[in-house]
Amino acid sequence: MSNTQSWSPEKYAENARFVSDLGAPVVELLAPKAGEKILDLGCGDGALTIKLAAMGCNVIGVDSSAPQIAGARKLGLDARVVDGERLEFGPEFDAVFSNAAIHWMKRADDVITGVWRALRPGGRFVGEFGGAGCVDTIKRALVEALGRRGIDGEALNPWYFPTAEDYRARLERRGFAVRYIALIPRPTPLPTEINGWLETFAQSFMTPLKGPQRGDFIAEVREALRPKLCDSEGKWFADYIRLRFAADKPKA
Ligand code: BEZ
Repeated sequence: MSNTQSWSPEKYAENARFVSDLGAPVVELLAPKAGEKILDLGCGDGALTIKLAAMGCNVIGVDSSAPQIAGARKLGLDARVVDGERLEFGPEFDAVFSNAAIHWMKRADDVITGVWRALRPGGRFVGEFGGAGCVDTIKRALVEALGRRGIDGEALNPWYFPTAEDYRARLERRGFAVRYIALIPRPTPLPTEINGWLETFAQSFMTPLKGPQRGDFIAEVREALRPKLCDSEGKWFADYIRLRFAADKPKA
């Protein structure tokens, strides 16, 4: 994940617990079976990893954030600090699972190659992350507010949001048989309004801003987004679009 982004398990739980709460459909697509060995790629604080463990799976969680991994370990999980773009596992897993993490890994082909190596023949790669158009409204407001300050916001964009065609082609090029892939628009209510979301997920865009400038910046972005992402009752949502997929490594 981008090194201009830092993660606090406490802030994540407060501002972004919905991310793992909304992970049920991708767990369903994974269809984990007791006894399977599963790698949770980008496990964060382990909220879904522990669900897989409770289903009887032998799970290893990996994430590039040491604080998030510390949170996952507190749950008693086997969780390790590993860069998802540099996976070094051999073919030992029945499945690699990933929720809401791959959009932070811009070197998509390196991720797919590492996953391929980690899977035994016949293993599956099942995941969900941001797809083409995800949080476009928010991203545009961030880039425009930075533009008003003479800063190139596009250059600070930490996210990879591919189309289904792009991701399918990458998976197939590596040898995967794609069983399912689709973009799923999912406007998502925000528990701590847009401020909590920006503070948690949009840190990269704020790296050129000094501490006190960030408050003004967030207030400006919030007001630009209010007509688009805040309803008449004052409830905020994010314009999420998910890319959900299941791909199989052929049996040898
Ligand atoms: C997510 O965690 O799902 C997410 C984070 C940043 C941008 C878009 C989605």
